[in-house]
This record gives sequence, structure tokens and C-alpha cells, in this order.
Amino acid sequence: MKAPFTSFLVIALGCLVQAQAETPVQSDFQQYQFTGRWFSIGLASNSSWFQENKQVMKMYTTVVTPTEDGSLEVSSTYPKLDQCETRKTLFSQMEQPGHFSYTSPRSGNYDEFLVVETNYEEYVLLFAKMSNVGETSTMVMLYGRSKQLQADLLEKFTQVALAEGLTQDDILILPRTDLCMAESV
Ligand SMILES: *[C@@H]1O[C@H](CO)[C@@H](O)[C@H](O)[C@H]1NC(C)=O
Repeated sequence: MKAPFTSFLVIALGCLVQAQAETPVQSDFQQYQFTGRWFSIGLASNSSWFQENKQVMKMYTTVVTPTEDGSLEVSSTYPKLDQCETRKTLFSQMEQPGHFSYTSPRSGNYDEFLVVETNYEEYVLLFAKMSNVGETSTMVMLYGRSKQLQADLLEKFTQVALAEGLTQDDILILPRTDLCMAESV
């Protein structure tokens, strides 16, 4: 009598494992080496917010700081009108290293982030599954320790975005800017 439920569970678990296996995660992820300052180099997303705003988006800086409970404070600074605006979000560490989640305290939106690949001192490739008022979207991010990365890393970013089901149209290499590039606090 239990058999149908058990086999359903096995199939469901199988799907879960498969879904997770699709996006690679940096092996032996070292959280402390991921901290510090990053420049946004590339963004790819199919969210409607991104589609509406990608024409005006510019490079921004992000500072990753560990918190005492093992979470990460991610603080991004963007130009807004003639000022610099810093937005802080708290990434909670999930069970597997390199997996983080973020829940917006205001909207309740839930996002999950994966560190796909990083060498810590040059680049990091991130993947996110985001939800925003009933809309789910996929995002791939390429961050660099400097404002410019080598062409092979941009190519790798494009390949990861395409592999996640995004299109060439969803992919943006952010125009460089000197605005709000000073060390953020
Ligand atoms: C974005 O792509 C993902 C994966 O293909 C899909 O599940 C999601 O519905 C898409 N979202 C939008 C807003 O198109």
C-alpha cells in the first residue's frame, strides 16, 4: 500500500537532484575569499524589471562582508540622480556551500543564489533564481575584482547564461562609468 507513495517520492527526489545538478556550483567554495569588493561586469536576466531598465544600467560596485552568523552582507552602490545610493541585502547561507538565499523583508520576495564558478581574485559567476510578485526569473551575473575582464571570461558568462535558458537579448555587458566607483562603506 505504501509503494505508490514511495515511488512518487523517489521520482520527486530524482527530479530535485537532477534540477540541482543542472547548474554547476564552485567546488570547495571558500566563503571568506569571496568577500571584499567586486565590480559588476555582466548581467543577464529575463525579468521584466531588467528588460525595462537594461538600456540605462551602468557598472556598479558591490562589497561582500561576512556577518557573525555566517551570512553575507551584500552592499551595492549605484548612481541615482546626482547621488550614490547604497543598497544592502543579507544573503543567508544555505546547507550547501556556495548556496545563498535572500528574502526581502518588505515584499517577501524570495531569491536563491549559487556561486557557479570563481577564482576569488579575478572573477565570480553567479546564478540566481528570483521571484517578484508572482513572476519567476533567472539571472546570471559576472563580477570582477577589476573593471575589465578578459574576453574568455565574458564568453564563459555568455555560455552560462545561454545554458540557463536566457537569450542573447537578455545578456548585457554593463557600460563602464566613473560614477559612484569610490570605495563604498
Ligand atoms: C525566465 O526563465 C526561466 C527559465 O527558463 C523561466 O522559468 C521563467 O518563467 C522565465 N521568466 C520570465 C519572466 O520570462
